Amino acid sequence: VSAPVTVTVSVPSGSYEVLIGQGVLERVGAVVAETCAARHVALVADETVADYFAEESLDSLGTAGIRGELLVIPPGEGSKTWVRAGDVLESMARAGLDRAGAVVALGGGVVGDLAGFCAAVYMRGVALVQVPTTLLSQVDSSIGGKTAVDLSAGKNLAGAFIQPRAVVSDTATLASLSETEWRSGLAEVAKSAVLDGEGFMAWLEAHAEAVVARDPDAVQEAVTRCVAFKAEVVGADERESGPRETLNLGHTLGHAIENVAGYGAVPHGLAVAEGMRLAAWLAERHAGAQPGLAERQGALLDSLGLTRTRRVYDIGRLRKAVSADKKSREGRPRFVLAVAPGEAKVDAVPEELLMEGLDWWVSSAGKGEKS
Ligand SMILES: NC(=O)c1ccc[n+]([C@@H]2O[C@H](COP(=O)([O-])OP(=O)(O)OC[C@H]3O[C@@H](n4cnc5c(N)ncnc54)[C@H](O)[C@@H]3O)[C@@H](O)[C@H]2O)c1
Repeated sequence: VSAPVTVTVSVPSGSYEVLIGQGVLERVGAVVAETCAARHVALVADETVADYFAEESLDSLGTAGIRGELLVIPPGEGSKTWVRAGDVLESMARAGLDRAGAVVALGGGVVGDLAGFCAAVYMRGVALVQVPTTLLSQVDSSIGGKTAVDLSAGKNLAGAFIQPRAVVSDTATLASLSETEWRSGLAEVAKSAVLDGEGFMAWLEAHAEAVVARDPDAVQEAVTRCVAFKAEVVGADERESGPRETLNLGHTLGHAIENVAGYGAVPHGLAVAEGMRLAAWLAERHAGAQPGLAERQGALLDSLGLTRTRRVYDIGRLRKAVSADKKSREGRPRFVLAVAPGEAKVDAVPEELLMEGLDWWVSSAGKGEKS
């Protein structure tokens, strides 16, 4: 098994290290001690993750002389609310956490976003350490400092930027992930590979089988490449005013699919993969993308087990949902268009082409065809 590795994220507001490897959870106490100087922390986890990993985390904190208060929330996106954040903050106050305390977010993107948001507002901000335990959170959400909770009007509508002091990504924790959660993460891995460039894309093509089989070394390498890629993008654009927007590749149609199908009916990863297929189709026709890139990306998604949804969608409803995307400007949807591995732009596409693209997508997805 490969030795753990460290990737540094450098943003204008500071820099921090991401520790990636099999079994690094046992070092969480030492990492908190080194980076936060805290003696008292709130360890936030959902019920599932707490059952698997709370004991080892509390032991590690204890060994480092840190008192951990375990705060457990129900699993699922339904917990990422303003009200739940209030409960966590009240519990932190009741536990007597002060400004010198810290928050450790142990879990997937839901806990990372919720606990991170609590860290950003508790006493106007306390130290945060992210300990991601899903593939999606290890390759994406734990890096970059975006935190949020959902409002009834929509996802992630209340939030804050807070960079963690450190990220501890134990790739061994991923062994217990469900196949659906695993695939959600794989779609983000594919997205990172296409956006990062030829090196990562070719590596993923060559190692897709090992990654799908969760081979420990292949998984560690994939996570490390994704983190290095995201660190670079975030380092250049901490507050998402420019290049960071390209990280939304596949998400314009992806979010629309989730919305039209009904939240939870189509796994997030599959929806993003479908969005990447449409974006590639559009990029070939509108952005002068490298010939064959759409086909190459389609084959990569297929080899990662990101199969077509096979549902049939109403184009009118999809078109409307596409406009609700946050990248839209004056009601005109914009898409992240990869023109070559490692090269992407964000652009609106002509209405006619968009409708033609949606038509192509609906018929190809419904038949379960390869793109
Ligand atoms: N802040 C960001 O930059 C950013 C980026 C992308 C996504 N997100 C957010 O991330 C969230 C999705 O994150 P997610 O996909 O990790 O979902 P999640 O946190 O809900 O985790 C998915 C499920 O996996 C379970 N789980 C977690 N770790 C496990 C493990 N090791 N073994 C077994 N089960 C485990 C959880 O209990 C949960 O039921 C969304 O709310 C999204 O908005 C944030």
